Amino acid sequence: MRIVDSSATLGAYVHDVNLAHLSDARWDELHGVFLDKAVLVFPEASLTTQQQERFSERFGQLEILTGNPLIKSLYVCNVDTEGNVLPLDDDNFRIVRGNEYWHTDSSYMPIAAKVSCLSALTLPKEGGQTEWTDMRAAYQALDPATKDRISELSAYHSFYRSQESLGQTVDIGSRYGFHRDGAPLRPLTKTHPETGRKSLFVGRHAYRIPGMEDEEAKGLVNNLIEFACQPPRVFQHTWSLGDFVIWDNRCVVHRVRPYDYSVPRIMRHTRVSGDAHSEGAPTDMKEQPSN
Ligand code: OGA
Ligand code: MN
Repeated sequence: MRIVDSSATLGAYVHDVNLAHLSDARWDELHGVFLDKAVLVFPEASLTTQQQERFSERFGQLEILTGNPLIKSLYVCNVDTEGNVLPLDDDNFRIVRGNEYWHTDSSYMPIAAKVSCLSALTLPKEGGQTEWTDMRAAYQALDPATKDRISELSAYHSFYRSQESLGQTVDIGSRYGFHRDGAPLRPLTKTHPETGRKSLFVGRHAYRIPGMEDEEAKGLVNNLIEFACQPPRVFQHTWSLGDFVIWDNRCVVHRVRPYDYSVPRIMRHTRVSGDAHSEGAPTDMKEQPSN
């Protein structure tokens, strides 16, 4: 196994490893590198669906994103089930477009995600790169006054609110991520359950901070994201077909860059559930949209 570090504070490329046949010793080694680097790229790993699902399950139980427990992979893509490119005003496309804003997966769920895994199946010629920001390094870089200011603050996270801010209104509970039991309340800082490292925990889904006017809260959240997502804390990957990437949602945010929406972009996504004791959050029915 050969590891090549990126030039950012996170991210590495892993060569010469067969993810479909991984010994326990190799897994332990890889897991250690993952906890340190937070994002790992396996160039042209070309995993099958089953191989990706099996490998992802090394981290823990997969989140069911499709509503069908037998289907563990989600296609993050701009095409319908027949392969036709979605029109710009399609609801599914608008949800995929939401990925262009810095976020961490499932922060709007009662249990946020641990790890996400993505395989590149169909790519546009240009654009569509994915970027990740190191929220550990971002936390470290904050000035002491800001660290102090945010130390006791929490934010509500909601997929309704983040899609709404992009002009989309979604029916209550009509699909994955649109909760019925109120929004989860998550501290703005997080201690990683495995490394003990502290990081910032904010992204596009955070919309309200108890004890603060919404405008001020949104301003604070946006300022933190803008501060965090700067070099050398950002790692960008330009995809090749078959590339496989895994990232640690507990300490990074990510986004996809724009591309030509008239051509297909298809990624196979598997998502590992967080652990209730470290990624669980209380939800609040007062934070439930009423449409
Ligand atoms: C995701 C996501 C970005 C991309 O799958 O969770 O945000 O590059 N994807 O498609
Ligand atoms: Mn995502």
